[in-house]
Amino acid sequence: MSDPVAPEQHPAEPRRNFYGRSKGKTLRASQKDYLANDLETLRLRGVTRDENPGRAPLDLTQFGGLPLWLEVGFGGGEHLVHMAALNPQIHLIGCEPFVNGVAMLIGKIRAAGVTNLSIHPGDVRDLFDVLPDGVIGKTFLNYPDPWPKARHHRRRFVTQGYLRALHRVMAPATEFRIATDIPDYVRQAHEEVPEAGFRLEHEAGDGGAWDDWISTRYEQKAFREGRFPHYLTFRRA
Ligand SMILES: C[S@@+](CC[C@H](N)C(=O)[O-])C[C@H]1O[C@@H](n2cnc3c(N)ncnc32)[C@H](O)[C@@H]1O
Repeated sequence: MSDPVAPEQHPAEPRRNFYGRSKGKTLRASQKDYLANDLETLRLRGVTRDENPGRAPLDLTQFGGLPLWLEVGFGGGEHLVHMAALNPQIHLIGCEPFVNGVAMLIGKIRAAGVTNLSIHPGDVRDLFDVLPDGVIGKTFLNYPDPWPKARHHRRRFVTQGYLRALHRVMAPATEFRIATDIPDYVRQAHEEVPEAGFRLEHEAGDGGAWDDWISTRYEQKAFREGRFPHYLTFRRA
């Protein structure tokens, strides 16, 4: 099987750096089976440069007319599947370049039997390239990569390149949620997210998660390591 998350790059486009991991531990046989059998069905159509070299707008008919929500970097997929199960009237889109996470998500989709979600097994910026304006009704960014060194802060999602693209694809007055365990990430979010056109609406610490929240793998890791969550709710202007 070809690698489903190999970074695609059309020769005509400038190189886009992705600094995270796209592969981890060797996949179990069951996970290889998930990727081989289910990913093709769950995968978003028209996002990769191979399929859509001209970067034409995504065909929204593939979502059956349902409103769209987005999760960036779904990790093991627990939050994405939880949201899909809770909101059958919504179609969830999840982006994640880490192939082990994609395999974990597919296992959870099978177990939960949800059908209202699609996967882009790659960088969210590929999706931003092809999403029409104002089509996303809510966005989740749970425990984004912290990039703790100061010289790497510009790799964080909460920088203008990512945030302005997100602002463009979100509908006016919709919600953008960020959960993080890194105080300096909160600082940068306060500075950068409003600059990109979002208003801070609510902020809470440990014990103040959203009513429909489910704790993620990284949140559990943060608790084990003595770090605590910050939950930020922004609204797109
Ligand atoms: C620290 S993990 C958190 C995973 C999960 N949200 C959780 O809370 O357990 C951050 C995730 O974001 C993903 N990620 C990083 N950059 C990304 C990008 N440009 N597009 C999509 N996902 C990205 C990483 O691959 C990683 O799995």
